[in-house]
Amino acid sequence: MYKLGLIGHPVQHSKSPEIHQYFLNVINANGKYELFDVMEEDLEYFLNELKHSDMNGVNVTIPYKEKVIPYLDEIDEHAQMLKAVNTIKRKGNKLIGYNTDGEGFIDSLRYTYPKFVKDIKDKTVLILGAGGAAKGIYFSLKKLNPKRIDIANRTKRKAENIVSENNHLVLALEEAEEKLYEYDLVIQTTNVGMEPDKDNQVIKLTHLNRGAIVSDIVYKPKMTKFLLNGKQQGARLLFGESMLWYQAAKSFKIWTDQSVEKHLKID
Ligand code: ATR
Repeated sequence: MYKLGLIGHPVQHSKSPEIHQYFLNVINANGKYELFDVMEEDLEYFLNELKHSDMNGVNVTIPYKEKVIPYLDEIDEHAQMLKAVNTIKRKGNKLIGYNTDGEGFIDSLRYTYPKFVKDIKDKTVLILGAGGAAKGIYFSLKKLNPKRIDIANRTKRKAENIVSENNHLVLALEEAEEKLYEYDLVIQTTNVGMEPDKDNQVIKLTHLNRGAIVSDIVYKPKMTKFLLNGKQQGARLLFGESMLWYQAAKSFKIWTDQSVEKHLKID
């Protein structure tokens, strides 16, 4: 019997229970994945209870990816560097923190566009946004050694704090919009375009090359205004939903030691 869940605020619209219930069925295990809408003043109490519970672990979402860190006993190297945790595993009375977001993104890219990843040393990448998700994706992508990874953000200082190579550029969003033809992959990581903000897009894709890949980590709606604009420009698309499935599979592996990657339901 696996006892799993998600802590955050708000959490009620999450797709994670459906995904993890499906994974439990795939491995033929009993279990449940519960939603815990935790207020900030109750976070310490919740994590202390978790430590002494029979739960296997939880996912962590907005706004607690950083805030849980002081209450954990161990943090894996990648999550430590990102200063953000999206998965907690209980081991005895210890809580261990991990982050599967960035690697989940890379897996979804590799699954959908294997040739692009194979040739990534010649590819130029632009990340839009400089929050926790952008940071995770930047560091996971960097391990693959693309030609360049630039970051554009509304607040340039935040992008400067992420970039760690001399040849990687920091841009304003307006600059990025004008120079889009330079990029082979554009990854949208801001919350612009997410329900109920679905009529907005962070930048226009007018100057994008045909055949570039456009990715949005927003998964509600599935076809964001940003992705639709990419499609109109002749781009190839990578949906937020596929990153969601892959990061979930990685969290599930941490808790259960079982691989479910072959069973993901991505269309
Ligand atoms: P997450 O952890 O999900 O990445 P986050 O850390 O809150 O979330 O980051 C949100 C990102 O969306 C940031 O890059 C933010 O830009 P700022 O750094 O300038 O705040 C970006 N963002 C949010 N609303 C935006 C908007 N209306 N226009 C442009 N960027 C926006």
